[in-house]
Amino acid sequence: MARHDNHAWWQTSVIYQIYPRSFYDVNNDGIGDLQGIAAQLDYLSDLGIDAIWLSPVYQSPMYDFGYDISDYRRIDPVFGELSDFTRLLKEARARHIRVIMDLVVNHTSHVHAWFKDARTSRDSPRRDWYIWHDGHHGNPPNNWKAAFGGNAWEWDEATRQFYLHSFLPQQPDLNWRNANLRQAVKDEMQYWLDLGVDGFRLDVVNFFIKDQRLRNNPLTIGHTPRPYDLQKHLYDRNRPENLAIIKELRQFTDRFTDRLLIGEVYTPPPGDAALSASYLGNGRDALHLAFDFSMLYCRYGARAFRDAVECWYTALPEDSWPCNVLSNHDQPRSFSRYGSGSGAAPRAKVLAAMLLTLRGTPFLYYGEEIGMADGKIGKRALQDPVGKKYWPLYKGRDRARTPMQWSTQPHAGFSRVKPWLPVNPDYTDVNVARQTEDPDSILNFYKNLIALRRTKPALQHGDWTYINNDVAAMAYYRSTDDSCMAVWLNFSRRAKTPVVLNPHRWEVVFGTHKQPGTVLQGFDFHLAPYEVAILEQLK
Ligand code: GLC
Ligand code: CA
Repeated sequence: MARHDNHAWWQTSVIYQIYPRSFYDVNNDGIGDLQGIAAQLDYLSDLGIDAIWLSPVYQSPMYDFGYDISDYRRIDPVFGELSDFTRLLKEARARHIRVIMDLVVNHTSHVHAWFKDARTSRDSPRRDWYIWHDGHHGNPPNNWKAAFGGNAWEWDEATRQFYLHSFLPQQPDLNWRNANLRQAVKDEMQYWLDLGVDGFRLDVVNFFIKDQRLRNNPLTIGHTPRPYDLQKHLYDRNRPENLAIIKELRQFTDRFTDRLLIGEVYTPPPGDAALSASYLGNGRDALHLAFDFSMLYCRYGARAFRDAVECWYTALPEDSWPCNVLSNHDQPRSFSRYGSGSGAAPRAKVLAAMLLTLRGTPFLYYGEEIGMADGKIGKRALQDPVGKKYWPLYKGRDRARTPMQWSTQPHAGFSRVKPWLPVNPDYTDVNVARQTEDPDSILNFYKNLIALRRTKPALQHGDWTYINNDVAAMAYYRSTDDSCMAVWLNFSRRAKTPVVLNPHRWEVVFGTHKQPGTVLQGFDFHLAPYEVAILEQLK
């Protein structure tokens, strides 16, 4: 791994994902808004994060809650106006918080002007901005399925052709082979880059290009409610040609100073580190960061995480930078994935400590810092189109998108009216106000650890070396030329006494059990159940 003497802002940052509908509602219509985010910037600044990534806030008919954009230059009225956005940018900047937007350009909404235009006639100048086909005797051109149910091809009666949609029929896929389309997307990006946004998270970046010959996907077998998962997605995603597109977008973005492109490389469990890493090019010429979901899909345990992390680091190209993530708006929350009961909070701290001390940029999902659990969403409260489609086999993504739990006020202080998704009833216990007061809370654990990270270059950009130990606790060094930290994470509910030869003297700088300031000789110590201990080597 090459050493970076100077680090870009996004390498040393902690990035916080906001799902705007559910963060904070200022105008009391039950839906979070941009003014709400601005109102909570002090909270975020106090938490210590460096950047926010906003799930889409553009104009949208909301079939997929903003991931179906009908105008890339407008803010959807439910979130506010452009002036609310520019104010948010300004106020964020005043607190040294960067702003990353979500860019959904595998597809648009079916009511986007481009698609409306494309479907007027086969001769429309924008016809080729989408993917059309005659089909075969009334049947779709191939066997591709939509990730959100049904066939990936929708018949368009007016022009008597099928169009492709990898997700909902209301999300027609763009044709990235068309140079005019590529230019149009860059123009939309430029609009926001000129306004001062610090970068984009590229939605399903591995779906952009489809097989030119539209070959059938091979079938696989398995147990899943989604027919989509019973295909090997050789031809409708992960095409090698995607990389050239990403490089083009990178070149374009590099014309602006200090901007970030982070890609969602969507893969089903167990994840695919090599695929994610391939979107980083040579580490300098493609995405700056790519999500690898292996850790997000990981079962709880030191071995499992260690393997996922090692696999990810090994897959990374020279000169690239990892990022790490445990939760997002599409998956069950990490707090719930790792079990309930009295061990849940200690486990959340073990994972927080891992996320914030691994090598690479950590991404937090709103609410993770207070240990928010998945909501309980009954059939009638369902909003997610995917949940509606597959209920009850798959209950959809709403449960990871419930309103942020701010306080013990009605509706968790999120809004004064009934929110768009029910608040998790545990909000009376689990909320920001309460955890702010409690020195042992998950929130204060995050705050203190983020603050520590800021003062320790080894944690921000040091090398990572696994410490082999006989008790399968996860342990590693983070080291720079002149400092070395050791992180010990006992994932287990049993106490452990690791045996590792290490002659040095270590000072405890952070942890759940050992008193900071304590000096230890080597690693001759005892780890309490779920203990976190971060040590610094004394000279
Ligand atoms: C991504 C988004 C998800 C969205 C889908 C289609 O996976 O994270 O929320 O539904 O793309 O845009
Ligand atoms: Ca609102």
